[in-house]
Amino acid sequence: MDKKVLITGGAGFIGSHVVRLFVTRYPHYQVVNLDKLTYAGNLANLTDIEKAPNYSFVRGDIVDQPFIDSLFEKEKFDAVIHLAAESHVDRSITNPLEFIQTNIVGTVTLLNAARHIWKDSPEGKLFYHVSTDEVYGSLGETGQFRETTPYDPRSPYSASKASSDHLVRAFHHTYKLPVVLSNCSNNYGPNQFPEKLLPLCIHNIKNNKPLPVYGKGENVRDWLYVVDHALAIDMIFHRGRVGETYNIGGNNEWQNLKLVIKLCEIMDRHLGREKGTSEKLITFVTDRAGHDLRYAIDASKIRKELGWEPSVKFDEGFDKTVGWYLSNEEWLASVTSGSYQKYYDEMYLKR
Ligand code: NAD
Ligand code: TYD
Repeated sequence: MDKKVLITGGAGFIGSHVVRLFVTRYPHYQVVNLDKLTYAGNLANLTDIEKAPNYSFVRGDIVDQPFIDSLFEKEKFDAVIHLAAESHVDRSITNPLEFIQTNIVGTVTLLNAARHIWKDSPEGKLFYHVSTDEVYGSLGETGQFRETTPYDPRSPYSASKASSDHLVRAFHHTYKLPVVLSNCSNNYGPNQFPEKLLPLCIHNIKNNKPLPVYGKGENVRDWLYVVDHALAIDMIFHRGRVGETYNIGGNNEWQNLKLVIKLCEIMDRHLGREKGTSEKLITFVTDRAGHDLRYAIDASKIRKELGWEPSVKFDEGFDKTVGWYLSNEEWLASVTSGSYQKYYDEMYLKR
């Protein structure tokens, strides 16, 4: 069936992979990418599909209710996949209010617009909210987050995402808005802005700069290849049960220090450097305030209900990712020009 699908945040890291998947896999869908193009949004992420007849781009702010209302009135979307967000924990510690605006107010703005245009014919409509495992808080050395784990967000970023998740569910219960949610673990892969751990370290290794590991590097994250997240979103979008939440994870936990050491080994190989060269760049810096110790996901619900599993093995995905950053130097140069240096200096020089 034909559908007009709004994808918010489609110029960002995960959003660009979701846009590409939907535009290429569903030529009979019209895909509209709405993005404000903040520092994290980059249309260069989508040059391969930008001329596709079923794709269009709109620049705009999800917080701007009159703009969003008129866009929904004009386009009469059948579905929304909502990824637009401020997404970096460290920035949320420096500037929480921006996260409240975009992640909470922006989400309610979209929910309001969807509610109004779908109120007489909600059948077949869907508001898909993309969220994070960070809403569940921090684990000790054992255990995993399930869909039923109580929320316990501990950073301004995760608190803003938790709040938006609650509001999406509230619109489902109060207004019968057809919604679905997913909470995913850390993504890695091409097109991630180099403020996040892996692309930042790739950039620094290339330039022989220190690799800032927070605290003792003991914190643990579960890593999933970004294309596998996009494939999970596709499955949930088409076959997920309305009103439900699905956890998505890679079953692939790494301590930060071990992960950075592994990255150093792969980088040495790709750059033809002697083994052990990049590892010497590792530098322990002041820990992140309130740094969550460990995240881990129990993804059995999506596996049992929808048959989703990660398709890319970590060694393969990691190697592919490093290869991508090294063969897309122009991309890395373009996103690290401008305000990146100022951000970097403010974030790391004082650590
Ligand atoms: P990102 O920071 O790379 O991209 C966010 C995009 O949203 C950018 O293109 C930006 O321009 C756009 N945007 C920001 N504010 C906007 C606004 N007010 N109006 C319109 N567009 C705006 O983020 P990402 O890593 O791709 O994450 C996408 C979503 O997935 C987020 O909702 C995030 O919480 C969630 N998520 C991310 C991860 C991860 O590991 N990166 C894991 C789980 C969930
Ligand atoms: P990040 O990529 O920012 O994702 P998140 O905080 O959402 O998990 O960070 C991943 C882990 O790496 C996290 O435990 C913080 C740590 N980290 C560093 O040690 N150094 C860095 O420079 C950055 C950006 C992150």
